Amino acid sequence: MRVAVIGVGQTKMGEHWSKSLRDLSTEAGAMALKSAGLTATDVDGLFIGNMSAGRFVGQEHLGALAVDHAGMTPIPATRCEAACASGGLAFRKAYLSILSGHHKIVMVGGSEKMTDLGATGSVGTLMGAGDQEWESSIGLTFPGLYALMARAYMERYGLQRDELSLVPVKNHTHGIKNPYAQFRFPVSVQDVSRSPLVADPLRLLDCSPITDGAAAIILATEDIARRVDRPVWVAGSGQASDTLALHDRDDLCRLGASEKAAQMAYSQSGMKPEDIDVAEVHDCFSIAEIIAYEDLGFAKRGKGKQLLINKDTSMGGSIPTNTDGGLKVGHPVGATGIKQIIEITRQLRGEAPNQVKGAKIGLAHNVGGSGATALVHILRSD
Ligand code: COA
Repeated sequence: MRVAVIGVGQTKMGEHWSKSLRDLSTEAGAMALKSAGLTATDVDGLFIGNMSAGRFVGQEHLGALAVDHAGMTPIPATRCEAACASGGLAFRKAYLSILSGHHKIVMVGGSEKMTDLGATGSVGTLMGAGDQEWESSIGLTFPGLYALMARAYMERYGLQRDELSLVPVKNHTHGIKNPYAQFRFPVSVQDVSRSPLVADPLRLLDCSPITDGAAAIILATEDIARRVDRPVWVAGSGQASDTLALHDRDDLCRLGASEKAAQMAYSQSGMKPEDIDVAEVHDCFSIAEIIAYEDLGFAKRGKGKQLLINKDTSMGGSIPTNTDGGLKVGHPVGATGIKQIIEITRQLRGEAPNQVKGAKIGLAHNVGGSGATALVHILRSD
């Protein structure tokens, strides 16, 4: 049995003062249904990824909210939470629910409304994804955690400040053509390396922003998918875990959960890193993209920067990565894993704004916290 993406929809990412969390979720869901040529009554299951609506906007019970406002009661609705990997987790749960035979057509969404709390409130809420007793209680933040990884990596592998800046330079360039991006402006190496310091060595332009947004996908069984135009097939799905706190890791320069999740997805799909035509990786901070190249097998340990220097991960390179601008141009945490898979779907259908010519196989990599959860999905066009 195979499962395919048959419809996608997403809202613009940014600061949405006039739209609530339910407005954003419903808007994305309606777009996904329309693109699949379906109505709400065709769907028999709903999964929604969300990190912390309770703290961001005071709303829990997201499954019920989504199914109610999408007009889909009484089908079962399930909220999935794994910090910034909530979207990827919801996608995997929806995929497995079809494989298990329980559902035929599932809506899987992701949403987050972060800007109501402002940056200060958001940083505290996001840190709920770290270790409350050993990290946030002593003042660590997510920029701080990734700064520790960046410093360790720079010391071990000799990564220079200006080389780290190549990640946001590439992703901002890709984001210019993305109509859903929060930021659509180019930045130079100098802009990044001299932007305000957030957590040494990470600067403002190394960071993903605080974002509102929602995204939704319709997944269906093979017999249903064969009736629609250009289904995109799920070829592999991997999920793995690691220690919650950074200090319990043996190595700060790799994410073991990403490596394991990638191995699972490669093994199920029969693919190797060299087979991937286009990728979306979790660039919450610049260093995370370089480490992801290595965890996913795109580059050897310590050599990730070469992909940037050689422009391998830019448009026209051997493995264009974050072709929509990645998390750098918008990171509504619960929605991110879904919008990554939407970009891969668009690429494999030949309809992405930054289209990779002839792309047939794509990979999406979604991380929760500082790497305690990781999801990797491989999709193919045939
Ligand atoms: N990239 C580029 N520009 C950014 C930006 C980012 N990440 N974040 C904010 N800006 C811009 C704003 O648009 C604004 O520009 P303007 O003055 O032209 O309007 C300016 O910088 C100041 O914005 P503000 O919201 O006051 O920024 P801030 O200093 O309060 O917050 C960060 C900046 C980096 C602290 C915040 O974006 C952050 O915490 N990011 C990390 C989010 C995170 O941890 N996510 C989970 C990852 S695991």
